[in-house]
Amino acid sequence: MSPFIKDASVQAVLAAASIVDVVSGYTSLRKRGATYTGLCPFHQEKTPSFTVSADKGLYYCFGCGEGGDVVRFLERIESLSFTEAIEQLGERFGVPVEFEEGAGPEAGRKDRETRLLLALERAATFYQRFLWETESGRFAREYLEKRGLEEKTCRAFRVGYAPDEWRGLRRRAAKEGFTDRELEEAGLLIDQGGKTYDRFRGRLMFPLVDHRGRVLGFGGRTLKDETPKYLNSPEGSLYRKGQLLYGLYQARRAIADADEVVVVEGYTDVLGLAQADVGNVVASMGTALTDAQIGLMMRFTSNITFMFDADRAGTEAMLRSGDLARGHSLRPMVAVLPVGRDPADVAVQEGGQVVSEVIKGKISLLGFEIRQALARGDTSTADGRVRAFEEVRHIMSKASSLKEREEEIPAVADRLRLSSDSVALLLRGRTRAGFESLANREERDRARSSLTRRLLSGETAVERDFLVAAACNPGRAGRIIEALTPEHFGDANNREVFLGLREAFALATDTNDHRAAFAHLKDRARGDSEAGPLFVRLVMEADQGRYSPAVLEELHLRLQQQYLSRQIDTLRATLDDGADREEEQRRLVNLERLLQSVRAGLKDLDPEEGRA
Ligand code: UTP
Ligand code: MN
Repeated sequence: MSPFIKDASVQAVLAAASIVDVVSGYTSLRKRGATYTGLCPFHQEKTPSFTVSADKGLYYCFGCGEGGDVVRFLERIESLSFTEAIEQLGERFGVPVEFEEGAGPEAGRKDRETRLLLALERAATFYQRFLWETESGRFAREYLEKRGLEEKTCRAFRVGYAPDEWRGLRRRAAKEGFTDRELEEAGLLIDQGGKTYDRFRGRLMFPLVDHRGRVLGFGGRTLKDETPKYLNSPEGSLYRKGQLLYGLYQARRAIADADEVVVVEGYTDVLGLAQADVGNVVASMGTALTDAQIGLMMRFTSNITFMFDADRAGTEAMLRSGDLARGHSLRPMVAVLPVGRDPADVAVQEGGQVVSEVIKGKISLLGFEIRQALARGDTSTADGRVRAFEEVRHIMSKASSLKEREEEIPAVADRLRLSSDSVALLLRGRTRAGFESLANREERDRARSSLTRRLLSGETAVERDFLVAAACNPGRAGRIIEALTPEHFGDANNREVFLGLREAFALATDTNDHRAAFAHLKDRARGDSEAGPLFVRLVMEADQGRYSPAVLEELHLRLQQQYLSRQIDTLRATLDDGADREEEQRRLVNLERLLQSVRAGLKDLDPEEGRA
């Protein structure tokens, strides 16, 4: 909706508009010779460096360098388009604005639009007065009071109440000269076979205002548990749901000041937050954002923070909005609410302080999605971990930058019990993963997916592989095994095999005869324990030299890594009760230091060496 304004109209508007008048609405100007000076409305300053020249029709700030004519001033200060700025100036200085596409029908359209806007504007005032000034409005006033929404807040958003009658609004509008046809086109009246009645009856009315403050429609909330909960104006010539953001008009200054917009779902969320002094808030009106809405926000800031209801519908709408926002190269954030609460509840019941904390604690939407995927997935089984990882890989591919992606790696590594390097390696994609040497793509994919599987196959497999590698390298493994404890093995069978292996190594050291020692293991394999097959495997593989010393070394580090992570988790859990336990704290620090050195050890290994 950005038709070209006739050049003659533009010139006429420019000739009539007084830049001093316009600017005076935003900062107080003092005349000094031929120019006016004041504090710059575009940046914070204590001494005036902003100048306006009345005869040249220009402004310039010596502090921030912002400058231009009256149109540019309005464009910048109100975030208007050129057309909008000219229209606004035309209205203000009484110059009719004509559009390029044929004055006849266009002018007609313009006239009609003006009528509808007037009808909507009058309706907003009517509903508002009905709410605050009538006996019938008491019911709605009590409802607002129960919800903790104050009159001041409601007035700022022009909340009203529609009479619970068939023709309350129509009667009033007719008196003001509006025809049924006009009211119907404005979405205020319903025409059913010639019989007309008010669309909104007995509902709390939220005017849907565009970023210039024009009422384009209404959302009406039932106070009687009727469906729909909110009845909205029909999509028509003026009101298009996806084209406006609820609350933007009131929030725009706060958004620019904070350089952040908080997007919530509902009308009441906007009101509740505004009341709690969080002003930079708009509502998507219960659905995912549209490209047009994102474009509107980007006139004021490129920092979007979602604060949607913590339910399924809210999360889905947020994720879809996030994908669109990324399409505009934005990096959306999420302020995560406690499950089951909406922003209005929290704001009204707990106050601005608590909400501000929630907003400050925002995380990237990418991180939020990854956490969700990991929490959803079953990371206790190898298959579950592989699936979870595939999902993480998909989410990561939506990152707007390499940096954003890298920030999430430690969380993924932690949850999947991998080193950050392994995760980075797996995420690097097919060409950069170190598989370049493999001739064709299929082969590379296979190599990568087997690496994924192996890395993700989990603790039990690492323990088992370590035991096999130890058996393959009896010369080196003796010392390593000696230093380990049964607790290093989480799996009962692995633990049993470890004990057997340790015995065998002790025997071998005493007798200096590996062969005999391993024969001893064979006896164990015959027992009826579940670990039997593993003993067999150990004995079988011992002669095969399947794992090199380098693999043994890596598996040893991995074994230590997962053991230390487990210990740390357990210790943290006992520390969670808040009691002061110096001894445990010290142990925790120690374990973390050890874990760090193990991780460093893993990092030193060439990622490809010994794994492929
Ligand atoms: P909610 O159901 O979360 O409502 O819908 P709410 O805003 O929290 O309202 P209260 O607190 O129950 O009074 C969120 C938004 O979705 C849109 C509205 O914009 C609403 O504010 N919506 C919801 C509709 O347009 N129609 C509906 O029937 C329901
Ligand atoms: Mn809600």
